[in-house]
Amino acid sequence: MNTPIYQDAPTSNPKVLAWVKEMETLCKPDAVHWCDGTDEEYDALCQLMVEHGTFIKLNEAKRPNSYLSRSDPRDVARVEGRTFICSNNKNDAGPTNNWMPPEEMKTKLHGLFDGCMRGRTMYVIPFSMGPLGSHIAHIGIEITDSPYVVVNMRIMTRMGRKVFDVLGDEGHFVPCMHSVGYPLKSGEAGPAWPCDPENTYITHFPETREIWSYGSGYGGNALLGKKCFALRIASVMAHDEGWLAEHMLIVGVESPDNEKTYVAAAFPSACGKTNFAMLVPPPGFEGWKVLTVGDDIAWIKPGPDGRLYAINPEAGFFGVAPGTSDKTNPNAMISAAKNSIFTNVALTDDGDVWWEGMTKEPPAHLIDWKGNDWTPGSGAPAAHPNARFTSPAAQCPTIDPDWENPNGVPIAAFIFGGRVSHDMPLVFQAFNWAHGVYLAATMGSEATAAAEGQGAMRRDPMAMLPFCGYNMADYWSHWLNMGRTLNNPPRIFRVNWFRKDENGKFIWPGFGDNMRVLKWILDRVHGDGFAVESPLGWMPRHEDLPWQGLEFPQDQFYELMSVAKDAGQEEASAHEVLFDRFFDRLPKEFIYEREMLRSRFWRGPSRWELARERL
Ligand code: OXD
Ligand code: MN
Repeated sequence: MNTPIYQDAPTSNPKVLAWVKEMETLCKPDAVHWCDGTDEEYDALCQLMVEHGTFIKLNEAKRPNSYLSRSDPRDVARVEGRTFICSNNKNDAGPTNNWMPPEEMKTKLHGLFDGCMRGRTMYVIPFSMGPLGSHIAHIGIEITDSPYVVVNMRIMTRMGRKVFDVLGDEGHFVPCMHSVGYPLKSGEAGPAWPCDPENTYITHFPETREIWSYGSGYGGNALLGKKCFALRIASVMAHDEGWLAEHMLIVGVESPDNEKTYVAAAFPSACGKTNFAMLVPPPGFEGWKVLTVGDDIAWIKPGPDGRLYAINPEAGFFGVAPGTSDKTNPNAMISAAKNSIFTNVALTDDGDVWWEGMTKEPPAHLIDWKGNDWTPGSGAPAAHPNARFTSPAAQCPTIDPDWENPNGVPIAAFIFGGRVSHDMPLVFQAFNWAHGVYLAATMGSEATAAAEGQGAMRRDPMAMLPFCGYNMADYWSHWLNMGRTLNNPPRIFRVNWFRKDENGKFIWPGFGDNMRVLKWILDRVHGDGFAVESPLGWMPRHEDLPWQGLEFPQDQFYELMSVAKDAGQEEASAHEVLFDRFFDRLPKEFIYEREMLRSRFWRGPSRWELARERL
């Protein structure tokens, strides 16, 4: 037998050893380092990066055990245009994913990876998505040449030697291959943030459950446990195995009499998801607690009682920094107060971090995310808009006591929300599971100014558009099927915090006041909340939401809830445009749901409107 042996490998799993050897032969690094996940390893890698200029150690008194990193300005975000789902059949990737035949992509990748780690160390990172050993969790192994990735993965996942213990000799893992794509010439130290933006590829092979990522060191492109594994590959696994891998936060709401209800919520990127995951109930809600299980991803499996149970597969937050403050999200600020990595934020003169929105008044002088002097008059943001903090979830003051429960937490409701400025109510409830899946599938957000044309609606079904690893229509069918197998499926709700008045001002105060909406959702789930039937779904009246501590007049509420008849009809027609892309794979239910929606708007005044008139 020719099993390749590493003297220092902390595993005897033959598949792992063979794969690592194969990748070493391909990438030709100077050394191979098996990550053990210890503090000593973390500290040593951080020190290595400080010496190389990739990390700046922050002021120990102000931000203990924390570092700032500045990326190459060409490598600052996920790159959807270079993200591929390489299924055997193009139709299995569907019309919303980039596709290339797997053999063609593999040939391209082998060319790129050949010798790509010359002069570097190749790190082998064993990690678990989900509490180690949980029946809902899965194991991955990332190979990377980036120490930045190693230390971020240490925060974002359960990482290290103990993962190999759980994996054993027979266990299954998802191989995640990563390189920044910057081999070094002999003696060359290379840039502080190596990358290869011209040749970046973020690729997924759903049939063989593999991930290959080349050329970027940033976030979801490089921390492969997150979007690549926990969403794109996991969504395929979930489809095949009868569970759900979703772009959802999970919170537990505890009432003053200690009744605990868990909900999962999907919002597209940049819709305040982390703030909702760490919501602080407003004055008037004394005794209520919102506890955080996760802020970005949920893995959800049916339990023996026919209910759905969710875990957060991650162990940290990779949160957007700008806009986060003691006011908007004090719990995120505390989570990032120590043991954190900051990427592309600004550096203060006393060695701490700053970003737009952190304080009302910006500091008089900063070093911006590009490393240049910055003053309030500089004209450009000091932190990149997609600057991030990487922080351990355990540091969140509102972390739920059951956040690491291997059996997950029972989900009572799904909430879906986009960013829509008109004709989309604050909240309403689906009539039933199929209608709820339809509402989730048709959700969307208005494009923000620059890129995509002001006001145009970007449909983002279940907030999974960039993250579903297979044909979106099959994903919808999977959702419909899941509902059929459950005893008591979660109730489904749509929300919209972003409605504007005729002066372009947000009508809903948002943040903590979202608790009022959450409370009505809980009431509905527990069977004691009132609602009126409307063309869109079940709607609360003004008196059905709790208003203590907030002056929010009836008229304003109904402005927030109303949908003009022609806008409703137009919305139904827009769904048709979305569905046309999916041809024969579109679930039949959706055609009927759309026609029902259209006819509800076409009929005379709804019960909802009549109820309003009676007020
Ligand atoms: C994220 C995203 O980074 O959704 O979480 O884009
Ligand atoms: Mn996300």
